[in-house]
Amino acid sequence: MKKFNGEVAFVAGGSGGMGTEIVKKFLIEGAKVVSADINDPSKKINDDNLTYCKLDATDPISWDKAIKHSLKKFKKISILVNCFGSNYRKEFKDQTIEEWNKILNINLTAVFIGINSVIPIIEKEKGGSVINFGSIVTMRPGSTGPAYQASKTGLIGLTKSAALSFAKKNIRFNLICPGHVDTDFIRADNSYSPNDWSTSINNPENYNSRKKQIPLKNFQDPEDIANLVLFLASSESKMITGAVIPVDGGSSL
Ligand SMILES: NC(=O)c1ccc[n+]([C@@H]2O[C@H](COP(=O)([O-])OP(=O)(O)OC[C@H]3O[C@@H](n4cnc5c(N)ncnc54)[C@H](O)[C@@H]3O)[C@@H](O)[C@H]2O)c1
Repeated sequence: MKKFNGEVAFVAGGSGGMGTEIVKKFLIEGAKVVSADINDPSKKINDDNLTYCKLDATDPISWDKAIKHSLKKFKKISILVNCFGSNYRKEFKDQTIEEWNKILNINLTAVFIGINSVIPIIEKEKGGSVINFGSIVTMRPGSTGPAYQASKTGLIGLTKSAALSFAKKNIRFNLICPGHVDTDFIRADNSYSPNDWSTSINNPENYNSRKKQIPLKNFQDPEDIANLVLFLASSESKMITGAVIPVDGGSSL
């Protein structure tokens, strides 16, 4: 018997580096999976238990459409993973109001919208699990831009508030805080997370200086994060809610 037989996991940001790994692991463990993202997946996985759909997580109507698609395909949702994000890596004084609004909107407001959209569906089940994504800056203030910092610490409040509000329905909420994970987020030049030579880990100087800050000496793999997602989604963590958990090789110490 696989761990997630009969469960349906909705992975928002499912086309990303960590999202793709999370989708794969849920499928291996027997879940049906909805991979929802503003961008098409670069590595399409063909599996009868997987469906893709478009989602702009900042837009409540887009959530409604994605949920409708999910219910039509798989009838229920019991797990929500909010694995999308945005960052413009700027010094405090250089961060524009447009960047501030965009980052806060994607990293914080969209998670609130997602929770409000999906919870009425999860409430129909005996319980459920919601997993949000913070960052190393959630645990330890750093030198990245103020908007990323504010949004990723704001998720502590949002996650704990939701955990208390929905505990009586047996729906758990936890916040994972990855450290340095080798994905497009810190390597590529995306509209939601722009990088140039001065910020990308394609630049060996940036790669090595990040690596040096990690006490366990290595970047985290998307799999390291996906392993915790599956644990938090499973009944093995049934008494864990409102937790803020780093997976950062000790970087936030
Ligand atoms: N990579 C890292 O080193 C790192 C470190 C700490 C925290 N994080 C956080 O982990 C999460 C996942 O990051 P990742 O490394 O997998 O990044 P990624 O760039 O590989 O994937 C992010 C995904 O989010 C999607 N997305 C962006 N805006 C969206 C929107 N409005 N609606 C729907 N989808 C949208 C993108 O299309 C992309 O597929 C993010 O919250 C990020 O802030 C990443």
